[in-house]
Amino acid sequence: MVEEATVPLPDWDETTRPTTSAYDEVGADERTAGEHLRAIHDMYRQGLAQVAHVLDQVVDGAAGIGEAREAVQQLGLRTAVERAGSFCGQLCRAVETHHRIEDAYLYPALRIADGGLGPVLDRLDDEHVVVHELLVRLDATLVAVARDPGRVDVLLAEFTHLRRLLESHFVYEEDQIGGALGVHRITV
Ligand SMILES: [Fe+2]
Ligand SMILES: [Fe+2]
Repeated sequence: MVEEATVPLPDWDETTRPTTSAYDEVGADERTAGEHLRAIHDMYRQGLAQVAHVLDQVVDGAAGIGEAREAVQQLGLRTAVERAGSFCGQLCRAVETHHRIEDAYLYPALRIADGGLGPVLDRLDDEHVVVHELLVRLDATLVAVARDPGRVDVLLAEFTHLRRLLESHFVYEEDQIGGALGVHRITV
């Protein structure tokens, strides 16, 4: 357990993100596709906040049990951890699907429409890989926590990191490709 905790979580350096200003001045009707992408991300933002809240409550509850360790409390903790884990797993799978759709359709369509977006799209691709690595790790942690609910704090730490990465990725993506989606009539 100690060894796993010392392995750094997959991460990226935000200061190395390429940017484009080519779509800064798009018209109102060309902003709709970007707004739709933002609305999809808002759904995930909401889900991330909900899972974070549930995990916080479970970790607080686990700490509250303290030294008593009565069977009924342990059973309650196990049930709460299982529910939180299942909630977390569902959200992670939904995020993975969202990224697979972007990889398979959205980014290739943008590459064809404007080769100048290449560096931004390469970076967005790279960030999907980092998020995927973290999701794989979280999946293993969900299995471990189901066996040992006392490790829910590890799950919370990994999930908090995932949330930070995703919130950052969503904003970068909206800023950099939102306008281009509208200009090139690529529907999200
Ligand atoms: Fe993305
Ligand atoms: Fe996205």
